[in-house]
Amino acid sequence: MSVNKEIKKVTTNTLLKMKAAGEKITMLTAYDFSFAKIIDGAGIDVILVGDSASNVMAGHETTLPITLDQMIYHASSVIRGVHRCLVVVDLPFGSYQSNSDIALASAVRIMKETGGHSIKLEGGEEVLDSIKKIVSAGIPVMGHLGLTPQSIYRFGTYTVRAKEEDEANKLRRDAKLLEEAGCFAIVLEKIPAALAKEVSESISIPTIGIGAGGNCDGQVLVMHDMLGINTEFKPRFLRQYLNIHEQATKAVQQYISDVKAKDFPNENEQY
Ligand code: KIV
Repeated sequence: MSVNKEIKKVTTNTLLKMKAAGEKITMLTAYDFSFAKIIDGAGIDVILVGDSASNVMAGHETTLPITLDQMIYHASSVIRGVHRCLVVVDLPFGSYQSNSDIALASAVRIMKETGGHSIKLEGGEEVLDSIKKIVSAGIPVMGHLGLTPQSIYRFGTYTVRAKEEDEANKLRRDAKLLEEAGCFAIVLEKIPAALAKEVSESISIPTIGIGAGGNCDGQVLVMHDMLGINTEFKPRFLRQYLNIHEQATKAVQQYISDVKAKDFPNENEQY
């Protein structure tokens, strides 16, 4: 495995150059200091402090309940573990949808209170004014199209989006609008691979896919899914690289048995 550790700090410009050079962009989520340190140290390009924290850290069924204060807590912990990669922080549900002034105020809080480098928000034309306002304040914005989990109650299901021509056309239009509004990249979640390829080739900013095929400019996975911390979520697009759930369970069982058997601590493990 070769990891590009030569670039000192990854910026939004680095990602643009990577797209132009045909180098794939790697992104993973993280929500705390220790894992951010591992992921950044391994050479990832981008860490997303995703609102998926609502699911994998807090145990909620959807991403809707997580608050701006909670996102700020997670993001500031991540930032303390990062030296090299670009950190993108999700604006949570309810912190930007009502109007562009509120959206800007939320984005400013993220930047001031976490030290994060950029924000991400979900949606196309509907949130364009907010994107423009945030970008003109100097804050880099990553867009997110396709399956946008904050709208799960409108979709009613987590299945693949934009299979129908109407929705695919809206996504094509939205991608262009986000590019024109100044987004530095766009997440494409759970859409047909052919559509993701077409969109990726039609815009100059990078696309980062999750369940959107291999022709996006980069890929993102939720850390808990790819490390097998959370083993209940097994969609087709997921590649699981480790089974931490199984290994951690075995370690905890061994600890319980060692303590019960009076084997731990031994003479060398005491003062
Ligand atoms: O919150 C998140 O983890 C995300 C990724 C699925 C892209 O938005």
